[in-house]
Amino acid sequence: MTPQNYDIKDPSLAEAGRQRIEWAYREMPVVKIIRERFTAEKPFKGIRISGCLHITTETANLALALQAGGAELTLCASNPLSTQDDVASALVDYGIPTNAIKGEDETTYYKHINTALDNKPNLTIDDGADLVTTLHTKRNDLLGNIIGGSEETTTGVIRLRSLYKSGQLKYPLIAVNDAQTKYLFDNRYGTGQSTIDGITRATNILWAGKKVVVCGYGWCGHGVAMRAKGMGAYVIIAEVEPVRALEAVMDGFQVMPLSEAAKLGDVFITVTGDRSVIDQAHFQVMKDGAIVANSGHFNVEINIPALESLSSGKRTIRNFVDEYTLTDGRRLYLLGEGRLINLAAAEGHPAVVMDMSFANQALCMEYLVKNKGKLEIKVHPVPEEIDKEIARLKLRAMGVEIDSLTAEQKKYLSSWEEGT
Ligand SMILES: NC(=O)c1ccc[n+]([C@@H]2O[C@H](COP(=O)([O-])OP(=O)(O)OC[C@H]3O[C@@H](n4cnc5c(N)ncnc54)[C@H](O)[C@@H]3O)[C@@H](O)[C@H]2O)c1
Repeated sequence: MTPQNYDIKDPSLAEAGRQRIEWAYREMPVVKIIRERFTAEKPFKGIRISGCLHITTETANLALALQAGGAELTLCASNPLSTQDDVASALVDYGIPTNAIKGEDETTYYKHINTALDNKPNLTIDDGADLVTTLHTKRNDLLGNIIGGSEETTTGVIRLRSLYKSGQLKYPLIAVNDAQTKYLFDNRYGTGQSTIDGITRATNILWAGKKVVVCGYGWCGHGVAMRAKGMGAYVIIAEVEPVRALEAVMDGFQVMPLSEAAKLGDVFITVTGDRSVIDQAHFQVMKDGAIVANSGHFNVEINIPALESLSSGKRTIRNFVDEYTLTDGRRLYLLGEGRLINLAAAEGHPAVVMDMSFANQALCMEYLVKNKGKLEIKVHPVPEEIDKEIARLKLRAMGVEIDSLTAEQKKYLSSWEEGT
C-alpha cells in the first residue's frame, strides 16, 4: 500500500474502527462461515477487486472475507455522507487501501472512485452504480481486465438494466439487490429500523402521535412504514404504482396523493429511488416545523434547489438538521442534506441483516471467478442455489430448524394428475 492509493480522515481512529468492526462481526455468522472457507480455499488468488460501498463496519467484514480469500482489494465510498471515518482508518490498517472521508465533496467523491479504479480491477462491487458508470465512461481503458461485477441496491440495478438496454454494458453483472435474502431483509427490516434510527438520532423526536408520510411503498417503504407505525406514528403512504398502493391500503395505512399528504405530515420520508418526489408545490403547503428526510439511494428525491428557492434563510440547528426559513415565515427541517438518513445520521443497517446482503456479495464474487468467460454480458440474477444456501446458513446460525418435504409431497407438488 502506498499513501497515493488511500485517502482517509484520520489514521489515529483505526483502533476504534477495529473494535466496532469486531462488534459487527459477532452478528455476521454467515459471512464468518464464508470467510473461514475463503481463508482455506483462496478463491481470489491473483484477483483484484474494486469496491464502491458504504464504508461501514459491515462492509469492512465483507472486505476482510474477500481479502482472506486472496483478493487484492481497494475500496471507495458509495455516498459522500455515509463513511464511518474510524472504519476507513481501520481498513487501511488491515492493508485494504480505502478512499473515503465522511462529508467529502463531489470532486473528492469521484477522485476516490478513480483511485479505487487505479487498482485495475478484475471484479467490481458497486452500490448505486457510480463505479460501473465511471468505468464505462471515463475509464473504459480498464474494461479489458474485468471478469464481472455485482450491484448492491435497487437504484444501481435500475441504472445497470438501463445501461444494458442501451447496448453499452460491457461485462456481466449480478443484481445482488434482487436476491430474496437481500431485499426481503436488508431493504425491509434494515432500512425500516435504521431510517427511524437516523431520524431519531438527528432530531430526538417522539414518534408516537406524529403524522408520518412515507413516499414509496416498495421494500424500503414497507419497512419504514411498519416501523413508524410500531413507534406509534399515524402513517400515510404516497405511491404511484396501483398494486403497491392497494397493498398499503390493506396493510392498514392511509393512502393519498402527496399534494394532500403534504398539508398533514409532521415527518416526510422518501424511499422511492425517483427524483423530485417532494417538490416545490409540496413545500408550499407543508406545516410550520415539518421534517423532511430521504432514505433512497440518491439525494434527488427531495427537490432541495426548490426548497432553497422558497427560503429566505438557512441554518444548521443540530448535526444533520438544516432549518430553512421560508419567505412566509414557516420553518422546514431538511435532514442529512437529503442524503440517505440512515447512513448519514446513524450507522446504516444492523450487521445481522448486512450479514445476508454481504454473504450474497461474497458468494457472487466467487461465482463470477468460477464462471469467468462463460457468463453472457447482461444483468444476471443471483443464482438460486446461492440465495437458498444463505437462508439455510442464516437459519442454522439462528438455531432455527425447519421441516423438509417427504418423497410423497415432492412427487405431489411436481405432478398435475391428482385433483379433487
Ligand atoms: N437507505 C438504505 O440503506 C437503502 C437500502 C436499500 C435500498 N435503498 C434505496 O431505496 C430506494 C427504494 O428501494 P426499494 O428497494 O424500496 O425500491 P422499490 O422499487 O421496491 O420501491 C420504490 C417504490 O417507490 C415508488 N415510487 C416511485 N416514484 C414515486 C413517486 N414519485 N411517488 C411515490 N412513490 C413512488 C415505486 O412505485 C415503488 O413502489 C432505492 O433508491 C434504493 O436503492 C436504500
